[in-house]
Amino acid sequence: MPSMYEYPKYYELVFGKRNIKKEVDFLESLFQKFSGRKIKTVLDIACGTGPHMDELEKRGYALAGLDNSFKMLRILQEMPHRNNFIGAYRQDMRNISIRRKFDACICMVNSLAILTENKDLISHFDSVVGVLEQGGLYIIEMDNPVNILSNPKPYEKAKTHRKLVKKGNISIEVIYEQRGFNLLKGTEQNRLTLNVNDAGKTIKIVDDSPIRRLLPTEIELLLRINKRLELVEIRGAFDYATSLHDKNSNRMIIILKKK
Ligand SMILES: C[S@@+](CC[C@H](N)C(=O)[O-])C[C@H]1O[C@@H](n2cnc3c(N)ncnc32)[C@H](O)[C@@H]1O
Repeated sequence: MPSMYEYPKYYELVFGKRNIKKEVDFLESLFQKFSGRKIKTVLDIACGTGPHMDELEKRGYALAGLDNSFKMLRILQEMPHRNNFIGAYRQDMRNISIRRKFDACICMVNSLAILTENKDLISHFDSVVGVLEQGGLYIIEMDNPVNILSNPKPYEKAKTHRKLVKKGNISIEVIYEQRGFNLLKGTEQNRLTLNVNDAGKTIKIVDDSPIRRLLPTEIELLLRINKRLELVEIRGAFDYATSLHDKNSNRMIIILKKK
């Protein structure tokens, strides 16, 4: 079954609504506040169609994107770029191999949660070390696990959310079923169904991929195994005011630095 990332046009319609400018404002302020070097080059890991890349490029940074989906990268490459576009790499984030190094890496939305196995997370962090300059930052955005796991009700029984998304002659019925939490593996099993009607053509996309709910303490363990990346801070939103424990926090922004 192909994942929803094989349908970038519909993925963007359903998940594209974000305040990218505000998110990039915060990324820039983290670059300035915490980096041990001036940040000029950035690698966007699991970049998709590269919404953050576009905004960072506009602000003068030189950008590269990495993703394992050919279809996502094709859209990224077809977008207008400035001369500060380094390139698009079709690679697996568990095993990144790029000859050059970057001043910063970012991994946005909940992309790191796609890696559900410890061994994959360990090799991911190892390979990030290989593409990050000394003193450079690795900034990861995830869902806030404190917010999600401190309220166990959603996992007591399957819960279903539905919404309809429309744009032009495309309409998508989105069905999101929460199908339980695997306490042994720390993963959430959801099913996302997109019933697409694209100008009369109907497509059903079903994505059953589990996602990992990483806790801050597991991140600490991963960094102890990695040894080359250190934890700078974890914030609860794209601002300095919100902590992971705030009620209104639904993000976990992890700021790492290469020693
Ligand atoms: C949640 S999307 C995020 C896209 C983009 N960063 C954004 O902010 O819109 C996750 C992306 O991860 C990519 N992906 C999934 N598994 C991957 C892997 N093992 N290695 C590299 N990319 C992967 C998907 O193709 C998809 O584009």
